[in-house]
Amino acid sequence: MTADLPLAGRGCVVTGGSRGIGAAVVRLALAQGADVVFGYHSDEKQARALADELCAAHPERRCTPLYADVADTGAAARFAAAALDRLDRFDILVNNAGITRDTLFARMAPEQWHQVIGTNLDSMYTITRPLLMPLVKQRSGAIVNIASSAGLHGTPGQTAYSAAKAGIIGFTKALAKEIGSRGVTVNAVAPGLIETDMTAAIPGDRAEFLRSLIPGQAFGSPQDVAHLVCFLASDRARYITGQAVEISGGLVV
Ligand SMILES: NC(=O)c1ccc[n+]([C@@H]2O[C@H](COP(=O)([O-])OP(=O)(O)OC[C@H]3O[C@@H](n4cnc5c(N)ncnc54)[C@H](OP(=O)(O)O)[C@@H]3O)[C@@H](O)[C@H]2O)c1
Repeated sequence: MTADLPLAGRGCVVTGGSRGIGAAVVRLALAQGADVVFGYHSDEKQARALADELCAAHPERRCTPLYADVADTGAAARFAAAALDRLDRFDILVNNAGITRDTLFARMAPEQWHQVIGTNLDSMYTITRPLLMPLVKQRSGAIVNIASSAGLHGTPGQTAYSAAKAGIIGFTKALAKEIGSRGVTVNAVAPGLIETDMTAAIPGDRAEFLRSLIPGQAFGSPQDVAHLVCFLASDRARYITGQAVEISGGLVV
C-alpha cells in the first residue's frame, strides 16, 4: 500500500457497478490501484462503455463487467464464480446493487415488497455466500455493504426499502463478529441523499423539501460515497468492523 494507491494490487468485486454510486466506487478503486470486476443488470452497453473508458485510462489494471442479477441465487452464484475466475486475487467485496419501489405501505403490492427485499437484502446472501470462503481462507479482506439512512431512521414511503437496509446493517454486524478472527472486516455505509438516477426519480417539490433538511442544502455526490467505501476497503480501516457509517451531510444529527 502506498499513500496514493491504498488499494494497490487488490482484487475488488462491485455489484451494480455500471452507474451511480457503484460506478463511482469502480472508478475510484481502479484509480487507487485495484483490479475490478463489476456487475451490471439491465444495460450491458453502458457497462461495456464504462469498462472501455477505465481500461484505456488504466492500461496496467483490469476492469471487467459481468452480468449479474443479485436477486437470483443461480445468476449471483455464476457471477461470483466468473468474478473469481477473472481476478488474480480477491480482497474486496462491495455489495452495492439496490432498488427502490416507493409507495405508502397501505398501497404496497406484494411484488413491490418482494422486489425491494430481493434486490437489496437477499443479495447479501446470494452474492456474499459464494465469495466469503476465499476471503476467510486468505485470512484478509474487506466487505462493504451499501445500506441507507432509511435503514437507520426509517423513511415514510419506503417501508420495504427501510426494512431491507436495516436488515443489511444487522447482517453486517453479525457477519463482522463471525469472521473478525479471520482478518476480514465487514462494514456498512449508509448514504443519505446522493445525486444518482435513484434520487432523480424523486418529484421536484419533494426533492426540494428533502434538500432543505440537509445542513449544507445539497445532496451528496457518488464520489463522496466512493471515498468512504474505498477507505473502509483499505488497510487504513483495518481496525474498523461491524459499523454502519452514515454519510448524509448531516441530514440526521
Ligand atoms: N442515491 C441515493 O441517494 C442512495 C441513498 C442511500 C442508499 N443508496 C444505495 O446505494 C446503492 C446504489 O444506489 P444508486 O443511487 O447508485 O442507484 P442507481 O443509480 O439506481 O443504480 C442502481 C444500481 O443497482 C443495479 N441493480 C439494480 N437491480 C439489480 C439487480 N437485480 N441485480 C444486479 N444489479 C442491480 C443497477 O444495475 P443496472 O444499471 O445494470 O440496472 C445499478 O447499477 C443502492 O444500494 C441504494 O439503495 C442510494
